[in-house]
Amino acid sequence: MILIKLGGSIITNKERPLSPRVSTINKITSQLKKIREPYVIVHGGGSFGHYWSVKYDMHTKPARYDTRGVAIVKNSMIQLDKIILDSLVRNRVSPYSLPPTDFMSGNRPIPAKVREIKKIAESGLVPVTFGDALWYGAKKSYILSGDRIMSILAKVLRPRLSIFVLNVDGLYSDFKSKKLIYDMRGSSFSTQDVAMDVTGGMRRKVEEATRISRMGLKVFFVNGNKPQRITDAIQKNKFEGTLFRGS
Ligand code: IPE
Repeated sequence: MILIKLGGSIITNKERPLSPRVSTINKITSQLKKIREPYVIVHGGGSFGHYWSVKYDMHTKPARYDTRGVAIVKNSMIQLDKIILDSLVRNRVSPYSLPPTDFMSGNRPIPAKVREIKKIAESGLVPVTFGDALWYGAKKSYILSGDRIMSILAKVLRPRLSIFVLNVDGLYSDFKSKKLIYDMRGSSFSTQDVAMDVTGGMRRKVEEATRISRMGLKVFFVNGNKPQRITDAIQKNKFEGTLFRGS
């Protein structure tokens, strides 16, 4: 079992609201069709859900956010999900769309529903889920990020590899020189360094990746503009990007 997160910065143009990068998405999905083992796709919000959540000042902390914001974030995520699903179908992959409400109750995963995702993937379908605005209870809502979903699924499904597809080659030890970290185990890099070095989005990815690798699972950051690197990691154990070894 493999988990693949398609980051918002690779599947959309974050500079412009509501702009999918359709040809990049198609290139990625045409690589994904070569995968010959069960896998699950999680995608981010980018210039769809992420854009609206910022506009409506919505965060990961449960609170009484504007109900209009909840509606619009959810609507835009369905729109982006449809673009991903269409691309998969066109490339002869059979996606099975699962909004996170299917396996989450409030901010808790529903274990039986998470385990069902594995069965679905083993049947030959490809479960597809995404970061979203979620009902929390007591008139509150919250933003569940796709990165967080990766940890939630990893904990129960124990994938042999969790891949974060990014718009950069991986984690840089030095942002200016773009010196890539190939192996996080041999690196003195900490989440604190990331906080100083890169944007909030990347920091959250590193936090979730670290969380997953501490479960004893392997995590890989890869550039989605070079989609063959995704299948090279899965099929050839060739890691052109940043690898977090399970520890
Ligand atoms: C998007 O999920 C959540 C929403 C704002 C709807 P992510 O937070 O994982 O999205 P990206 O990958 O950073 O865009």
